[in-house]
Amino acid sequence: MKYVEFLSVPARSYAAHDDGVVQTGNVKFIEAGCAGCHTVTQKTRNDAPEEFRNIVLRPYTDMKMHTVTDAPYRTPALWGLGRNITLLQENGKQLLLMHDGRATTLDGAIQAHGGEASGSRAAYNAMSSSDKAALIAFLESL
Ligand code: HEC
Repeated sequence: MKYVEFLSVPARSYAAHDDGVVQTGNVKFIEAGCAGCHTVTQKTRNDAPEEFRNIVLRPYTDMKMHTVTDAPYRTPALWGLGRNITLLQENGKQLLLMHDGRATTLDGAIQAHGGEASGSRAAYNAMSSSDKAALIAFLESL
């Protein structure tokens, strides 16, 4: 399936890297322990076809199973999140997050994190409203 192999991954806009609010949100994302499961980088295997070997990607997932709602689910990748949100908004569709679409906002998705992610949710809830907004802006920039 050469077609699938060459499909590109969601790229972040360059402007996002220079945005001070997004940068703060990035720090808050790490501080709240989100990256404990939404691992920032992954590297492709060194036995993959040559052109795809040892490539560092930023999918924001550890690709592992965790119980944060009612049952174990694989940590979803967060790359492309902002682009998907924009696309849904432009088409008048509702944002449905988590495995069953129980959250319709990013804040709601974070509030739906219990279980193994309870500490992370508590860290987010303890932030100032401007730090929370920065974290959300960071997620939207992915
Ligand atoms: C213990 C691991 C863990 C931690 C810590 C964690 N998450 Fe998650 N996250 C998950 C899992 C697993 C899901 C999917 C759970 C489900 O649907 O039941 C998820 C879902 C999400 C979603 C919804 C994605 C989608 O496409 O539906 C967002 C957004 C998200 N997490 C952001 C965060 C943020 C922000 C933090 C930090 C405040 C965080 N997560 C901390 C494991 C984690």
